[in-house]
Amino acid sequence: MTQFHIQKLCPILGAEVHGIDLSNSIDDETFASLYKAWLDNDGLLVFKNQCLTPDQQVAFSRRFGPLFGEADQFQETVLKYLLPGQPAIFRVSNKLKDGEPQGRPKAGNYWHSDVSFRAKPAQASLLYAIEVPASGGDTLFVNMYAAYSELSSGMKDMIGNLRAIHDFAVAAENSGTYTADQLLQTDFDGQNRHIHPVVITHPETKRQALYVNPGFTAAIDGFASAESEPLLNMLYNHALRHEFIYRHRWEVGDLTVWDNRSLMHYAVVDYEDSRYLHRTTVIAETPSQ
Ligand code: SIN
Repeated sequence: MTQFHIQKLCPILGAEVHGIDLSNSIDDETFASLYKAWLDNDGLLVFKNQCLTPDQQVAFSRRFGPLFGEADQFQETVLKYLLPGQPAIFRVSNKLKDGEPQGRPKAGNYWHSDVSFRAKPAQASLLYAIEVPASGGDTLFVNMYAAYSELSSGMKDMIGNLRAIHDFAVAAENSGTYTADQLLQTDFDGQNRHIHPVVITHPETKRQALYVNPGFTAAIDGFASAESEPLLNMLYNHALRHEFIYRHRWEVGDLTVWDNRSLMHYAVVDYEDSRYLHRTTVIAETPSQ
């Protein structure tokens, strides 16, 4: 067992991990302690000063579960951003090489929970910083356990049995970068649209969390849009209180691991310098109430 040290990032969520070198293989006991620390800190760990090859990142990510790009395909629109030779790594970058994008530019520039439009969405996402801007390019995380727990009992009763439609087309349309043809191609016969409970029970912590996000949630199932939109906007305004948010300022060598079942995140696009990161994405079980 490797001894490591945990330091809280802020009162509401997250912790930094020191004393672990993820380029070495991690024994089962150490991994079990890291996993517990991840759950105990509401689903965000930041490993500092890492130096990881793509294969080492993939090997560590597989400890959390099966990966998109291996056990299931990513949506069509991101396939061109996968790392050549390592399809489990999705490149996030504003860099160009010979006119070709080196990753998805402006990825995640909206509040979302990764892949929530699939029946089996994302459990953990692991994002490794290889190049970061001198300033800017931060990622924000919001605690959806806290957002749920701070709702009134009346609102909890009202939303407790509701379900919401999640649809990749919501993000694709909002980003304005995809044509109608691309949206159809990306649909995989309806694979990128799914209905999930508005309130989920985390399968491991058994805590309840809000599970709707502005990036991918199209509507509350069975509601007219005049009913659904105000309700979703109220939930988003409530969830996005500053008290529930941690803002991560990236340094080269950071590996963040976040839990999409308890957090939403937002990538701030306010920089011009190069930003280049590798993301691996673990497949979750279908969320339940
Ligand atoms: C993402 O949403 O996966 C991208 C996050 C980031 O680039 O900070």
